[in-house]
Amino acid sequence: MIDFEVNRERCTRCGSCSKDCPSRIIVMDDEGFPSIAADKEPSCLRCEHCLAICPAGAISILGFRPENSLALKGGFPDPKQLETLIRGRRSVRRYLPDNLDPELLQKLLDVASCAPTGMNSHQVRFTVLDDRAKVLRLNQEVMEGLARLDREGALLASKGYYGRFVRIWEKHRVDLIFRDAPHLLIASAPKSVSTPKEDCMIALSFFELFAQTQGIGTLWNGLASWAIDQLLPEIRRSLGIADDHMFGYAMTFGKPAVHYARTVQHHPANAYRP
Ligand SMILES: Cc1cc2nc3c(=O)[nH]c(=O)nc-3n(C[C@H](O)[C@H](O)[C@H](O)COP(=O)(O)O)c2cc1C
Repeated sequence: MIDFEVNRERCTRCGSCSKDCPSRIIVMDDEGFPSIAADKEPSCLRCEHCLAICPAGAISILGFRPENSLALKGGFPDPKQLETLIRGRRSVRRYLPDNLDPELLQKLLDVASCAPTGMNSHQVRFTVLDDRAKVLRLNQEVMEGLARLDREGALLASKGYYGRFVRIWEKHRVDLIFRDAPHLLIASAPKSVSTPKEDCMIALSFFELFAQTQGIGTLWNGLASWAIDQLLPEIRRSLGIADDHMFGYAMTFGKPAVHYARTVQHHPANAYRP
């Protein structure tokens, strides 16, 4: 049941919802009001475009009512601000030890979970280490696991640098994998959805950008991702990442101990116009 409801007092019968429905299942009835036939409901993508586009706020669907949506007029950041955010976000590798306020952490995840997903599946799962003590424990387990693989000569030639990271950790307690971040986020998604990897990467991209507007630093963490997903599957399991889930990526984050004064500079886009 998708609970498609039309408030007939508000509906102006403009047909915008019908025209914008990606599955084209909204039809205008004999009186000119939109409706969805029961046998068409399974084709609904649950995208809520009908709720979003209605100028009169007349459409509710899936139990969501238009009055609980954010109004869009004038609400987007201006282009210059967004450009500065995209150009100015940095990979943060130095963190304060404090944990994030749990409410802020939840807010970051709620916003990231609004990222688009293939066929609107919205099945990205966020595995979050919400306390620095948990990341420290994980770091210890990862370092021990990597040290064992190194001793056994089981690190692939292409991943041999992990042995060096372990020795630096053992000798100097310098953490080149998690970078002493207080938090870790892993996005995963069921392999059965149409675009699991892409869904995870887009969600993490949204997470990163929104986090940086809140003064929270992030780091796309390939080193943690490969270690947990490919080299040490027992750790992946202990983090509760199901075997039928594709490991999207890991991202470390927290309050930065570093502040950048300006953007870096890039060459123009590598655009090819055939
Ligand atoms: C997919 C991906 C994986 C990355 N993995 C790591 C990593 O494991 N460790 C790290 O220190 N940086 C990692 N980085 C950060 C890049 O090195 C960084 O983006 C690059 O040096 C440019 O710096 P900037 O992000 O501040 O512009 C990763 C970046 C991406 C996009």
